[in-house]
Amino acid sequence: MQYRIAVIKGDGIGPEITDEAIKVLNVIGKKYGHTFEFQEVLAGGVALDKFGIPLPDETVEICKASDSVLLGAVGGPKWDTLPGHLRPERALLGLRSALGLYANLRPAVLYPALADACPLKPEVVGKGLDIMVVRELTGGIYFGERGRRQTENGEEAYDTEAYSVMEVNRIGRVAFEAARKRGKKLVSIDKANVLESSRLWREEIHRLAAEYPDVTCTDMLVDNAAMQLVRNPGQFDVIVTSNMFGDILSDEASMITGSIGMLPSASLGDSVEGKNTLGMYEPIHGSAPDIAGQNKANPIATILSVAMMLRYSFGLETEALAIENAVNAVLDQGLRTGDIAAKGDTVVGTVEMGEAIAKAIV
Ligand code: IPM
Ligand code: MG
Repeated sequence: MQYRIAVIKGDGIGPEITDEAIKVLNVIGKKYGHTFEFQEVLAGGVALDKFGIPLPDETVEICKASDSVLLGAVGGPKWDTLPGHLRPERALLGLRSALGLYANLRPAVLYPALADACPLKPEVVGKGLDIMVVRELTGGIYFGERGRRQTENGEEAYDTEAYSVMEVNRIGRVAFEAARKRGKKLVSIDKANVLESSRLWREEIHRLAAEYPDVTCTDMLVDNAAMQLVRNPGQFDVIVTSNMFGDILSDEASMITGSIGMLPSASLGDSVEGKNTLGMYEPIHGSAPDIAGQNKANPIATILSVAMMLRYSFGLETEALAIENAVNAVLDQGLRTGDIAAKGDTVVGTVEMGEAIAKAIV
């Protein structure tokens, strides 16, 4: 099969890590008889420098016309003082919205070889950790009405959290389906003791729960969830939550695995016959400008993101597993980039790590 992939390398370490992921995809292509065609497009800081805007129309058009999108990372100190609508992060929000990618899957897995990197006590973590965070990605306070106005107390700024039944229903379905394929346990996280939008969220999740009697679904308030994640992370299988809560809790979940440099993500829209028509795949970490261009970044999160691409957008489960197994094999061999190295480990660079994984694909 032939697949067209739009590549947004972005800023900071973005280009280095996407190069390694492309290397791995090309090896998969050769071994399994697929052709991956890559088209590079600009977004984020590099687009600001070249066109004066973070997300050119051409980028959106090319992404829409592709089978899938691979993204490195956007942003950096150079563009931090620009007004909101010109920040590199706008490119991410614009792409999510323009491509209709309302479901963000963020798996947080503790790799046995990296157990020491987990900041929690071994007795707290227990048998390991494998959580799938399903974050709503195109609604809520990120996209609600916002602005500034004059009041008798001077200037005031506001952002609005709004969720429709339709929005909760479609993200809920993604989460229930995910839970069905895993441990059949879903926790829906909200703030229904305070927020009306959370009360509607909860009502719709309960309606859906009746359609998925094989999945055990419970509600949890977000403050309690933040605590439970560090108190007893093993209780979670799949989590579903709003855009903002998902942003925060997925960073927390990732830290429990000890290695934000390891965690991939998939942003998906509607699926047709079980396959997602278009998805955007990216590491959950940022552009790490402090180590950019130094061959220090960990490419594993991006490499695992292309494994998710193969699985969710192309339905190539065997090929996805081949990448995940190669990552495990290389970690078992003891290869470490700086971020996941313990005292005494030999540290390898971005390129060495990417090449070792590419070579370990069988
Ligand atoms: C993420 C990031 C983004 C978000 C930022 C960069 C806009 O933190 O993908 O988690 O808040 O969604
Ligand atoms: Mg975030």
